[in-house]
Amino acid sequence: MKIVGISASPRGAESRTAQLVEAVLRGAASAGAKTEFVDICRLRFEFCNACGTCYATGECPKADDYQRVFGLMTEADGIVFGSPNYVNGPTAQLKQVIDRMADAIHCRAFDGKYGCAVCTTGGQGEDGVVAYLNRVFAMLGAQTVGGVGVALGPDPGRLAGAIGRAEALGRELADAIATRRAYPDQIAALDEARAYFRNLVTANRDAWPHEYEAWADRGWL
Ligand SMILES: Cc1cc2nc3c(=O)[nH]c(=O)nc-3n(C[C@H](O)[C@H](O)[C@H](O)COP(=O)(O)O)c2cc1C
Repeated sequence: MKIVGISASPRGAESRTAQLVEAVLRGAASAGAKTEFVDICRLRFEFCNACGTCYATGECPKADDYQRVFGLMTEADGIVFGSPNYVNGPTAQLKQVIDRMADAIHCRAFDGKYGCAVCTTGGQGEDGVVAYLNRVFAMLGAQTVGGVGVALGPDPGRLAGAIGRAEALGRELADAIATRRAYPDQIAALDEARAYFRNLVTANRDAWPHEYEAWADRGWL
């Protein structure tokens, strides 16, 4: 079982969000997972410029760290997104990576995987960021096991409490993967989204041959 943690604070070793991502991975490792931590702010990503090449070919023409990071997520059974709240959203660095996954979303690339999200904030908005990141997992076709959001404020004890909850979330993630857990509400929503993307990919089969073939190869058409 492989789980990758994507951490998106630019503050390196000072990041409290990174501590939560590491706590999730520690919890997952204690339940038998092989884990990898990735600080995307130490890597280089260009913006998606909507060229549409990925839809047509499955390849992004930009030569940066995206393919390697996406490859790690593709190989993993579980993925953790961690971001500080920056103005009621994830950091631009994480959004930049998410935007590069439009083809992966059309192709349901995380089908069968599990995700969870963590967020720290100065004072508010943590649950909204966790919810957004978990919706991204759903767009990619994954089920989600929950999240940990914490408004840190001036109380250092709040991070310690959140770290305990993050470790528990990691154990939960590993257990969901090991038992192939099915969340009926999420499965119903994923099926609905799959029908939407089946129509989209079919309607664009001439313009997006890679996506049509990817769906056909998986027997989903
Ligand atoms: C550009 C920027 C925007 C922020 N926006 C918010 C915000 O909208 N609400 C909030 O409560 N905290 C906000 N914060 C504070 C961070 O979310 C908070 O300090 C977080 O814990 C930092 O995480 P890190 O230690 O992992 O870098 C912002 C910080 C920065 C630098």
